[in-house]
Amino acid sequence: MPDTSPETRLRDPGYFGLHLQAAAAIREVGQLGWYDSHFLRRVAIARAYLAKVRPDTLHAFAEGLALLAPAPGFREFVIADVFDAATRDEIAAIARAAQPEPGERQARENADFGRDVLWDIPRYLEFQEAIRPRLAALVGRPLVSSYNFLSRYGADGRCDVHMDDPLAMFTFDYCIEQDAVWPIHVSRVVDWIGGEVPAQFDPAAIIAEPGLDFREHLLEPGHALLFNGASQWHHRHPKSRGGYCNLLFFHYYPEGCENLVAAHRWPAHFGIPELEPLCELFTHPGHDGLG
Ligand SMILES: [Fe+2]
Repeated sequence: MPDTSPETRLRDPGYFGLHLQAAAAIREVGQLGWYDSHFLRRVAIARAYLAKVRPDTLHAFAEGLALLAPAPGFREFVIADVFDAATRDEIAAIARAAQPEPGERQARENADFGRDVLWDIPRYLEFQEAIRPRLAALVGRPLVSSYNFLSRYGADGRCDVHMDDPLAMFTFDYCIEQDAVWPIHVSRVVDWIGGEVPAQFDPAAIIAEPGLDFREHLLEPGHALLFNGASQWHHRHPKSRGGYCNLLFFHYYPEGCENLVAAHRWPAHFGIPELEPLCELFTHPGHDGLG
């Protein structure tokens, strides 16, 4: 088997040159600054990098990623009747009884969002898959089920403005139970592939920008909001009156996008070997090589 260790590859002058360009692009773009921004950051880095090493591929790269954009003019919508009464009851009972796993990840969710999170509960995965065809028909594209999680917000619940990784391209935000309506605000679709994302992240400025056309939605238990989490800014103001709100999130992306949502597959998918020295630096979210 050939030795593909980083040390060996870096001895190749061609690889080493691209590695330096990749590190420079990571430095140039820096951090975007919001929760779950690592994918969009990688896109921005890849664009900056390709502009230097393979400018002829920039157009095809953007065109390929466009599959992860919603249809022009897409707006979020409320679905009021997604589950029957028995299913709603079962979802609520599971949410009440679920025991969060303690640990570092849970501690972060407690501190950053004022919530307990339980990921991919098997019965919820079944429900997610069961409603997938209906949601696919509503958005007009075949969908693949991605991850899901139960989010039990307490009195300190907050959800600052952000856009998500395309694994959450279509986000189904279902209200299980709450003691009071907790509004969610969702912007129009943003063209992040075309670069319509500010270099400096200023959450207050984003929320206040009239051109982003934020709309408020008041979800009652049993209602869900379907929106494009990867292309629409969204947030909830910090809970001010205490209480609780149990939400269930199902995430989907379009069929055929499996190679796009995983940055390490970009070199082969796009047929751009020069992307390899860059994508090898895309490891864990938030820990991109020299980032
Ligand atoms: Fe989100």
